[in-house]
Amino acid sequence: MLVVRTVAELCEEMARRDGPIGLVPTMGALHAGHLALVERAKDECETVVMSIFVNPAQFNDARDLATYPRDEERDLETAAEAGVDVVFLPDPVEMYPRGYATNIVVSGPVAETLEGAKRGRSHFDGVATVVAKLMIASAADAAYFGQKDAQQVIVVQRMVTDLGLPVRVVACPIVRDADGLALSSRNVHLSDEERARALAIPRSLNAIADAVAGGEIDARTLAARALDVLAEAEVLVEYIAFVDPDSLEPVDEIDREVLVAFAGSVGTTRLLDNIVIGPG
Ligand code: PAJ
Repeated sequence: MLVVRTVAELCEEMARRDGPIGLVPTMGALHAGHLALVERAKDECETVVMSIFVNPAQFNDARDLATYPRDEERDLETAAEAGVDVVFLPDPVEMYPRGYATNIVVSGPVAETLEGAKRGRSHFDGVATVVAKLMIASAADAAYFGQKDAQQVIVVQRMVTDLGLPVRVVACPIVRDADGLALSSRNVHLSDEERARALAIPRSLNAIADAVAGGEIDARTLAARALDVLAEAEVLVEYIAFVDPDSLEPVDEIDREVLVAFAGSVGTTRLLDNIVIGPG
């Protein structure tokens, strides 16, 4: 596995490669969710490039950025074991050189609702900008993202379509621990007690799916059911939203496929999860 730290080195290396290139953008602290993206990329591409970069431009909270888990050595071992061909590990000044002044702005409901509303508009601008830079530098034919960050996939697809980038955006299913908790780099911040409480998140989403299977279609009734489960475990809910999976416009009834997106926190750890449900 080759490790490169500059954009110039990455461009040079990718120009030498034959066949389709698959990009897996990450912020490191690798877990099985990231590795599932690598697996899919390996199935479909000749060369798999993983980027590991904690992107300051997408953090709205300085403390979150400072405490974001980082372990370069372990990540490199994990990536090598997973069969990644090239790891791109830039410094912030490599991605945002002195005098940096160019940004991609994504507007409309896909970027301004849910996470865009909670984390601030600049969050998805930061994501779109860094992902575009990574796609260009890696000459990617396909880029792999997790459905865990459902809104991120929609924003990235929008950006790729709008800029006409020749990259296929691939969404991969959420990987969960055996107990149901969606894997996240931030889970390491949870104490045992907090982790046990966090299990109410997948439980609440499953309760919604069960109720829909039982014939309930009213989003408000379903949300109330989930909120009961979450309140009992003292999960602080930011939103539990029933939205169209493409436009992210709110829906009132489960009369087609609906994305149910959760954001909230347990202690000081912010967690996301979601489920896609269809009429029972
Ligand atoms: P990060 O949180 O490291 O996630 C990298 C990729 O892994 C994202 O596409 C994310 O959706 C996916 N992922 C995380 N947990 C997952 C899980 N449990 N199951 C499936 N996929 C999962 O998302 C980012 O980094 C950044 O915003 C990035 C795209 C790298 C831009 O900076």
